[in-house]
Amino acid sequence: MKPLKILVTGANGQLGQDLMNLLGGTEPKGAIKGRTKLTQNGIIEAVGVDIDTLDITKRDQVLEAFDQIRPDVVIHCAAYTATDKCETEPDMAFKVNAVGTRNIVEGARSQGSHVIYVSTDYVFDGNLGRPYVEWDIPNPVSVYGRSKLGGERELYPGDTIVRTSWVCGYFGANMVKTVLSLKDGSNPLYFVNDQFGCPTFTAELSVKLRDLAMSRHPGIFHVTNQGPTNWYEFVREIMDKCGGDKERVNPIPTKDLDPPRPAPRPPYSVLDNAALRLLDLELLPHWSESLVALLSALDA
Ligand SMILES: NC(=O)c1ccc[n+]([C@@H]2O[C@H](COP(=O)([O-])OP(=O)(O)OC[C@H]3O[C@@H](n4cnc5c(N)ncnc54)[C@H](OP(=O)(O)O)[C@@H]3O)[C@@H](O)[C@H]2O)c1
Repeated sequence: MKPLKILVTGANGQLGQDLMNLLGGTEPKGAIKGRTKLTQNGIIEAVGVDIDTLDITKRDQVLEAFDQIRPDVVIHCAAYTATDKCETEPDMAFKVNAVGTRNIVEGARSQGSHVIYVSTDYVFDGNLGRPYVEWDIPNPVSVYGRSKLGGERELYPGDTIVRTSWVCGYFGANMVKTVLSLKDGSNPLYFVNDQFGCPTFTAELSVKLRDLAMSRHPGIFHVTNQGPTNWYEFVREIMDKCGGDKERVNPIPTKDLDPPRPAPRPPYSVLDNAALRLLDLELLPHWSESLVALLSALDA
């Protein structure tokens, strides 16, 4: 049987690297031992591209790439993810996240490829006061969120949107790495306790993206690790689990951050993984389990 050909954009990014490892038949770094079901050799053929090999903002390049690669599915992870920089570079944000996605969708249509677009909890304003289901109305409060919503709107009804949040993995910069870099100091640390969400680990998210690519389920999916928390509680847990002193970590309200972050964040962007649950698809584990696995992979 012909392998399922999957094109991954943003393959050198935090998520893309774990995803490429998984699609290549290797357990992602930081995976919970014994949990990841690997695909047999020959089932999937993965092609990874990033800005050095395929700039998604260049329409001609994208169409040519699709013509050459002819993927069955594209998992579109590439994005301009610098949330705060997006506030001062809105054109860049929309160019990559919205126009870039338009190009990917056009390329996919030209070859009949199924698109899976990785999106974000930042499409919501965070003022609903309960977890968001996939059918709730987005209302982004930042340029990044608006540009990612712009990308969502480029998709066709049969395509797939995977919204995730607070992404951490072995590769790239994230909160787990930040806390590890602060672990050995003795100064007090301040993290906000009025922004709530679900940390999500790339080792587990990759598995769900692969499975959705194989099943080609259409529509919007919220895919996060389970268990809402706030940044203060999350950082305390990381500090504790990596052997640091969690009592150094103190809560602070967002309004007292000095300097304030340029991009507003949604105060409560917990994503209910309702579509997975209602379709009887397996949910990701609680974030604390994945955190322990990632810390072990990072040798912390
Ligand atoms: N990180 C999070 O907390 C989070 C939360 C929710 C959703 N997401 C979404 O999850 C996806 C993966 O995030 P991530 O954390 O893996 O981000 P990442 O590490 O920043 O990876 C994104 C990749 O896209 C590349 N890229 C940027 N501009 C491009 C262009 N014009 N053409 C082709 N590639 C380009 C980046 O290259 P450079 O590094 O060279 O710019 C990078 O390798 C993104 O769609 C993001 O919006 C992330």
